Amino acid sequence: MTPLLKATGLGMTYAGQFVALRDLDIEIQPGERVAVIGRSGAGKSTMLRIFNRLLNPTAGCLELDGKDITHAQGSELRQVRRRVGMVFQQFNLVSRLSVLDNVLVGTLGSRRGLALLPSLWRQFSADDRDWAMHCLNEVGIENLARKRATELSGGQQQRVAIARLLAQRADVILADEPIASLDPRSAEQVMGILRMINETHGVAVITNLHQVDIATRFAYRIIGLRDGVMVMDTSADHLNDALLEHLYGDQLDEAQAESRSISSRIINETQRRAGHAVFTQAAL
Ligand SMILES: Nc1ncnc2c1ncn2[C@@H]1O[C@H](COP(=O)(O)OP(=O)(O)OP(=O)(O)O)[C@@H](O)[C@H]1O
Ligand SMILES: [Mg+2]
Repeated sequence: MTPLLKATGLGMTYAGQFVALRDLDIEIQPGERVAVIGRSGAGKSTMLRIFNRLLNPTAGCLELDGKDITHAQGSELRQVRRRVGMVFQQFNLVSRLSVLDNVLVGTLGSRRGLALLPSLWRQFSADDRDWAMHCLNEVGIENLARKRATELSGGQQQRVAIARLLAQRADVILADEPIASLDPRSAEQVMGILRMINETHGVAVITNLHQVDIATRFAYRIIGLRDGVMVMDTSADHLNDALLEHLYGDQLDEAQAESRSISSRIINETQRRAGHAVFTQAAL
């Protein structure tokens, strides 16, 4: 099968001197669910940003569906960004637009650029609006369609960002610490939505996460970066202390403590809401 994404010898050197990503060889298949872990500064965001060409790699080659996109520009690059969508810790919505308009921007895909935003409404058909509402419904916030993006909670904003990628029919969602700014309940919902979109829509998801146990519950493939080098590519089932120690070194305790603390907060919140423990594999 042709991989959805394929990196060969991919590298990133910032300002001609700092090597943030080194000689990365990796293939991501359609519909995969992958978590990327590693210490702060390991190169996780750099890797994801190169995958949708927000950053231009300084070495190597990147392919999408077998096509070299390392130097894609113009309409070809817009098409790459439509297919390889990204959500961020800080959501990156257009604050002056409504929730629905933010999602409709996704339907623009490669048709138009954001420069045309002021005349946004005239550009959308009834079908576009129906599709955008359907995508909001998929992430459970159809009722918020008319609100301004800034009126929403962090968790709701992240759901809008995900709905926008559904609307643009992305083949892969790159999520850069999508729950880092969220309270436990919203974090649980957002990870659940990403999982649902992967399972029911077949959209591949690659997410950077700081919490090891959330990563292992969410993904079945775990990639580990250390100092810009991929030192681990394993199934979640095979992740063990030796691998984690290799990845985190003397920060392992810290990583696991953060993980435990976030998980227990999610469990507590879930218990509080449900009145009993319902934190299961399916919850994330
Ligand atoms: N624009 C930039 N210019 C110079 N150095 C950069 C730039 N962006 C990132 N770096 C450096 O590259 C390295 C990798 O950064 P990156 O943001 O990819 O790490 P990360 O694994 O995502 O870290 P975190 O977990 O803290 O988000 C870091 O040492 C960072 O300081
Ligand atoms: Mg990062």
